[in-house]
Amino acid sequence: MSVIDPANQYLLQLLREAPSETLWWVDENILTLPTTIKGISAITNRYDLYQQLKQHHWPANFSDFDASHIAESSLSCVLLRLPKEKSLVHFLINQTARLLKPGGELCLIGDKSEGIRGFNKRAATRLGGNLEEKKISGGLWFGKITSNPGKAGEPLDDHNYPQLREVLDSFDTGFQFISKPGVYGWQKIDSGSHFLIEHLPGMLDQPLPLSGKVLDLGCGYGYLSLKAAGPQTHLTCTDNNAAALMCCEANLAARHLSGHVIASNAGDLVSDQYDTILCNPPFHSGFATNTELTERFVAAAARCLKSNGNACFVVNKHIAIEQKASKYFANISVYTENNHFKLIHLRQPKASKTKYLHTSDQ
Ligand SMILES: C[S@@+](CC[C@H](N)C(=O)[O-])C[C@H]1O[C@@H](n2cnc3c(N)ncnc32)[C@H](O)[C@@H]1O
Repeated sequence: MSVIDPANQYLLQLLREAPSETLWWVDENILTLPTTIKGISAITNRYDLYQQLKQHHWPANFSDFDASHIAESSLSCVLLRLPKEKSLVHFLINQTARLLKPGGELCLIGDKSEGIRGFNKRAATRLGGNLEEKKISGGLWFGKITSNPGKAGEPLDDHNYPQLREVLDSFDTGFQFISKPGVYGWQKIDSGSHFLIEHLPGMLDQPLPLSGKVLDLGCGYGYLSLKAAGPQTHLTCTDNNAAALMCCEANLAARHLSGHVIASNAGDLVSDQYDTILCNPPFHSGFATNTELTERFVAAAARCLKSNGNACFVVNKHIAIEQKASKYFANISVYTENNHFKLIHLRQPKASKTKYLHTSDQ
């Protein structure tokens, strides 16, 4: 699905005009990619974007925005379309200060409502150079900040972005987990996922922990796995977010749970068959609502579920997932619902086990 987004259009123009030795921080926003542009490399924390970059022959790295492989003061230009999370923006600006040559430029694009003008100012203080600002259209702004290491300010507060840390949740008393900024809802338990765990024994007619092979599709830091799995569970956890995968791995290790944690785009690289699939699917890509993405999670569940297995989804009440699921499952029921969420029980996957929904049309 292509989203015509003026910010992305402007970014594309900047990419075409960028000098060699340019780095593009690629965050969660969708962009129709051009074929690689000479001299520009990319780092992304999203596996689906990494796959797209690779398809278009970009030199790209998939990581939680780790730029340690790039030498200090080696870049002429860095491009960034503002991500949603403030601590991430500050972290990327701090990293940029290390990477730019004196006189090199950081280009920021973002909406006024996303705080672009404040980020422009803070980036100028951090990099020590001049700020040129321009309104692109509507609320969209562009900022070009020059690096002047002699006048560089203190690092911006990034809440120690790269650090994994222990979080104690107050909602589910005593539940402790490892997480970090950059992970979906990193400091909390998702209330939809909590609702699913509460009803899971009834839905499956078996107590927790689950036995057999369990797939946690869109695992985040691993909440569903941590609550549903025990020593007899063979877990596979998958997500497209590099920070989520690191945290999930750390959480499984801390609980001595055995499992594989793999990067995938809506489960596309999961090839095994599972007794149980647990999923709280995303319905946003970057800033846009994306029901096609939710459908790809349902399709992946059908492909990966044993014929007698159970896929348990929790979704917002307004998502018409049942209708989409009827393409992929013969047996679909709403187990229960509350004011916000419904629990969908999917059984008897329909025949084709090799059918993938195309990912190239995002
Ligand atoms: C609603 S969250 C649920 C997270 C976790 N299961 C929980 O209960 O806290 C949805 C998850 O899907 C992941 N996600 C979003 N787009 C994805 C994609 N294309 N492929 C795989 N995972 C994706 C997000 O990173 C996020 O962790």
